[in-house]
Formats: sequence, C-alpha cells, structure tokens
Amino acid sequence: MHRILSGIQPTGVPHLGNYLGAIKNWVALQATHECLFCVVDLHAITQPHDPKTLASSTRELAAALIACGIDPQKHVLFNQSAVHAHVRLAWIFICVARMGWLNRMTQFKDKAGKDRENVSVGLFTYPALMAADILVYHATRVPVGDDQKQHIELANDIRDKFNHDFETDFFPAVEAQIIGPAARVMSLRDGAKKMSKSDASDQSRINLTDDAETIAAKIRRAKTDPEPLPSELQGLDGRPEARNLVGIYAALDDIEPSQVVRQFAGQGFGNFKSALADLTVAKLAPIAAETRRLLADPGHVDAVLREGAARAAAIADPIVAEAERLVGFLKP
Ligand code: TYM
Repeated sequence: MHRILSGIQPTGVPHLGNYLGAIKNWVALQATHECLFCVVDLHAITQPHDPKTLASSTRELAAALIACGIDPQKHVLFNQSAVHAHVRLAWIFICVARMGWLNRMTQFKDKAGKDRENVSVGLFTYPALMAADILVYHATRVPVGDDQKQHIELANDIRDKFNHDFETDFFPAVEAQIIGPAARVMSLRDGAKKMSKSDASDQSRINLTDDAETIAAKIRRAKTDPEPLPSELQGLDGRPEARNLVGIYAALDDIEPSQVVRQFAGQGFGNFKSALADLTVAKLAPIAAETRRLLADPGHVDAVLREGAARAAAIADPIVAEAERLVGFLKP
C-alpha cells in the first residue's frame, strides 16, 4: 500500500484553493491509504513571520483540517517542527541537491521577486526540506495542487542522486497526485493568477473562515466576461475567469465541469454566481462552525498534534537514522 504525505503552511487562513486543490482530496484518500498530514511550520519561517501568531496559526490550521474531515485517530496529523527527523534529513538533502536545480524553482523565483539578494537562504533551500518531509516517511504518493508539481519532481531528483551517490535503493520514487477540476484555483480578481494567501486583495480569495455574506459578496464581485455560459467545455476557451468558476462549482459539487456547463448553458453569470455562492456557503459553513467549536478547546487540538508527532516520529526516526548511516556519520 502506498503511504501518503502532504503538507500545508500555517501562514494565514486556508482558502478555497487549498481546500479544493489539496485538503478535500486528502480527506477522500484516507479511505484507501495510510496518510500523514503535516502543518509545515518550518516552511512558514522561510519568509518574514510574526512569532506571536505562528503557534496559534498552526493550531487553527490543524483545527481547520480536522473540521474538513481529516481523521487524526486513523491517520497522523502533526506539526513539522515537533518531529526533528525532518530537519535532520533536510540537511542531508541540502547537501545532495545542486544549486542549479534549486535555481530553476519557479516558486522561489515568484516569492523572491526582484529582491533575490535579500530573501532568506531557507526560502532557497525550501524544496529540499519538502523532499525530506516526504521521504523521511518513505511516502510514495503526494496529493497536492498543481503549483507543487515542480517541487515533487525535485524530490525525485534528490532521491535519485542520494541513491546513486550512496549506492543504495533506500529511498523510493515519489509521485504527485494532482486530482480533480480545481487543482489550480485562480484568483477571483484575475484569471491569470492563482488564488493565494499572499495576494494583497482579500477579494481575490475565499477563506475557509469567511461568513456566508462575505462569500456571496466575493463571488458576486468575481471577475467574469459578458458572455453567457456555454453548453460545451470548449466554449470556455480563452475565458479563464469563467473556466475558474465552473471548475470551482464542479469540485465543490463532486461533478464534472462538462455537467456544470450543461446545467447552466445559456444562462448569464448572475444566475450562475448566485448558485455558486449558495453551494460554496453550504459546503464551507459547516467547516467554519466545526473549526470554531474545536478551537474552543485549544488544549484538545494541541494534544491531538502531540500524539500525531509521537506517531510520526516513530516512523521517521529509524528512516533518518538509516540515511545518516548511509552517509557515513559516526554513531558513537
Ligand atoms: P501551501 O501551504 O502553499 O498549500 C497547501 C496545498 O494547497 C495547494 N494550493 C492550491 N491548490 C489549488 N489552487 C490553488 N490556488 C492553491 N493554492 C495552494 C498546494 O498545491 C498545496 O497542495 N510547499 C507546500 C507545503 C509542503 C508540502 C510538503 C506539500 C511542505 N512540505 C510535503 C506536500 C508534501 C506549500 O507551500 O503548500
């Protein structure tokens, strides 16, 4: 059976892109796989962060994941900094990865922007830590949104070079699982930009904590074009905003985008947006309510994470110890 690992950063509130591109698929995969889900607080400090809110953001994200349907009894939910094996393997992988490989990472280029000389070294080496997150559990399947694809390819490059350099087949190959019609949810304001926590405009994204009125208003104001909805998917070519809303509807309702266009063919966006707002509220409101309920008892959420970290460490510790042995460290 394939072991699954995936992660999400505790920077800001999770949004509809995180939910449809990743979390919703994680929930479904729990039925058929052994899963580990990680709130990646080590990744969160690669960019400026507020030390006063990191712990509460980590707890809030864990609560949101449980509210979405992650089952921390059957599977493993933990925060990355609590399992030291991640950084131990990350250091080895930083020494295996080549500068040229990391230089090609588009996410680094996007996040560093024009100010490359001033970003942290951690932001540059970030994908090596991500490779360690996966391989420290010998996980072989990684359900992620489309934007993480290049990082998973890099994890395989690191794995290949480690196995080659140390003459072993210790680390398994990893496969990204990019699932469903919303693997790349775009900004509500600009169909060429992905929905992101770091977008300056809150109108560009739907947060999992938004109330019904806010969700409806954001969808009403979402950018579209003057044409009605087509009856076939090809009618969405060259209409990125329309395509995005159709993809969101399909993913939320667990149907194909072709069914969505058939259902709304010939109707204007007024009607469609109001149906989409109702559907979004129906799916997200229970998650927001359950997150609030869980956070009323922060001690319980922390206990869940503590227990998850202990179970994660029990898997990861022997694997990182073997990697260290292969590298040749003295274990006095
Ligand atoms: P992060 O925190 O940016 O996002 C978490 C997950 O949400 C997906 N996602 C999206 N999917 C569709 N449309 C969008 N607009 C959108 N925005 C985000 C991401 O693809 C991701 O699956 N580097 C990772 C976290 C990470 C990780 C890992 C993931 C660290 N270690 C190991 C997998 C395995 C990140 O920053 O995700």
